[in-house]
Amino acid sequence: MEETIRIWAGDAAELAAAADLYATVFAELPYDENPQQSRTTFLDRVHRYRSAPDFRLVLAWHDDEVVGLALGNGIAAGDWWRDRIVPQLPKTTAAEWLGDECFSVIELATAPARRRGGVGAKILAVLLDGLPYSTAVLSAYSDAEPARRFYRANGWTEVATGLRIGESPELCVYGLRLDDADAD
Ligand SMILES: CC(C)(COP(=O)(O)OP(=O)(O)OC[C@H]1O[C@@H](n2cnc3c(N)ncnc32)[C@H](O)[C@@H]1OP(=O)(O)O)[C@@H](O)C(=O)NCCC(=O)NCCS
Repeated sequence: MEETIRIWAGDAAELAAAADLYATVFAELPYDENPQQSRTTFLDRVHRYRSAPDFRLVLAWHDDEVVGLALGNGIAAGDWWRDRIVPQLPKTTAAEWLGDECFSVIELATAPARRRGGVGAKILAVLLDGLPYSTAVLSAYSDAEPARRFYRANGWTEVATGLRIGESPELCVYGLRLDDADAD
């Protein structure tokens, strides 16, 4: 049974279904987030970034259920995450992977029961399709071994490890070159 993959077009009920998936997935270790809080955080994030350049929320549907989500947008100086990551990187690394602007993958999640069936790879491909950037970047918890294996398997490069944002757990940063596939 194949999933249907669509870019979210603004429907509130669909967004609520995505938030439910987000709350379920990030209640798992190593994230251990409070489902109510993380649901709110996800919705705030979508509303905050909706006007950002190249904003996309990609949803995978199985019947009426959201079984995967991928969220991202273009970033430049002034972006909250970028402004906290760049100072922790060697200048050349920051220039190579984040440049003046790049695409930031903010969230990626597959429903536990649907994992390792290709959903993550498919929604990520739709998220990154045709973007006007030469690189995409993201951070992952260092302890999130399945996620790290997933990014490595999908061609991402580990750009940096041992980073933190404020009191966060240790993070690593991954980068992907988009030039070959999509950018000018
Ligand atoms: C990371 C995540 C989105 C991957 O989604 P997915 O739908 O399972 O991904 P795919 O089926 O496309 O890819 C699976 C591949 O990723 C790697 N992988 C994923 N989970 C793995 C695990 N538990 N152990 C080893 N490899 C794993 C493998 O290469 C795997 O291929 P294989 O099954 O042939 O060995 C999913 O595990 C998830 O939602 N995790 C919790 C949330 C999260 O960590 N998000 C990322 C935040 S940065």
